[in-house]
Amino acid sequence: MKKRILSGMRPTGKLHLGHLVGALANWTKLQDEYDCFFMVADWHALMSEYENPDDLKANTLDNVIDWLACGIDPEKSAIFIQSHVPEHLELYFILSLITPLGLLERCPTYKEQLREIANRDLKTYAFLGYPVLQSADILLYKSATVPVGQDQLPHLELSRQIARKFNHLYKTDCFPEPAALLTETTRLLGLDGRKMSKSYNNYIGLSEEPEVIRKKIQSMFTDPERIRLSDPGHPHKCNVFSYYGVFFPEMKKEAEERCGKSEIGCTACKKELAERIIGLLAPIQEKRHSLQKDKKHIQEILSCGCAKASDAAKKTISQVRELIKI
Ligand code: TRP
Ligand code: SF4
Repeated sequence: MKKRILSGMRPTGKLHLGHLVGALANWTKLQDEYDCFFMVADWHALMSEYENPDDLKANTLDNVIDWLACGIDPEKSAIFIQSHVPEHLELYFILSLITPLGLLERCPTYKEQLREIANRDLKTYAFLGYPVLQSADILLYKSATVPVGQDQLPHLELSRQIARKFNHLYKTDCFPEPAALLTETTRLLGLDGRKMSKSYNNYIGLSEEPEVIRKKIQSMFTDPERIRLSDPGHPHKCNVFSYYGVFFPEMKKEAEERCGKSEIGCTACKKELAERIIGLLAPIQEKRHSLQKDKKHIQEILSCGCAKASDAAKKTISQVRELIKI
């Protein structure tokens, strides 16, 4: 039997290249080897977007279309929406019974987000419990491994602690401790060199028009020491070069040499990168267009994924209810 994997993404906006290299490329590969559950974490999105939830449904559908366009295959993986499987909230409450407050208050992601996200009021009861809901997501499916980025490791550690405590308290082996499956790909930086993110407006969207992609890539900073065309460049100090490395590893050497020997100017180098990225996204965008024409098909995929997820979720919850004598 294949090992199980659960992973999720919050539908807070359109997907970009960061999602492609950070998660989707990896998810696509895992589908053959694991029994995969991929979830749109809409409750998690609502924890920060509760004041303005208008776009949540549209983002959810848009994200699922991108997943499919990028190669997530509903024949292999269950694709579903978190809020359609009510057992997530039920397990969230049950796990919150045994989660020490101190663990949540000390969680580094919690402290960081309170500090960094200034335009929303995150001093809420639910937001403190964010990692408990994430633990419920993972444990509900008894997921053996969870593919996550480095930033999610504290949450995964918390879910391991909660699983251990539950098993110990109720003398059971109900929950396996989930292991992290760290994504190998290097993190893709945004156009301005910070982390690629919607809130920094430094991203290239998966569904963006070629003209927009050209403009965005032309606006990228290059090696600051390269002033004239004849100055040799330092590719390792240039974000444009790092994109070649991430997306076109077969071109890395050439891009490095022609820059260091000043055989190419930055404008031309960026122009080439733009055309290559446009080419890379073309088949994804094409698939997206055809998927968008058939919303009924998407709904069918989601209800089929939901049925599969519900099945697994119900089994776990009935086992848990018995253990906690309710
Ligand atoms: N917290 C994750 C993020 O922001 C999303 C998420 C929710 C998730 N539930 C999950 C990821 C369960 C992995 C497993 O990216
Ligand atoms: Fe960067 Fe390319 Fe310019 Fe070199 S030539 S500094 S890699 S943009």
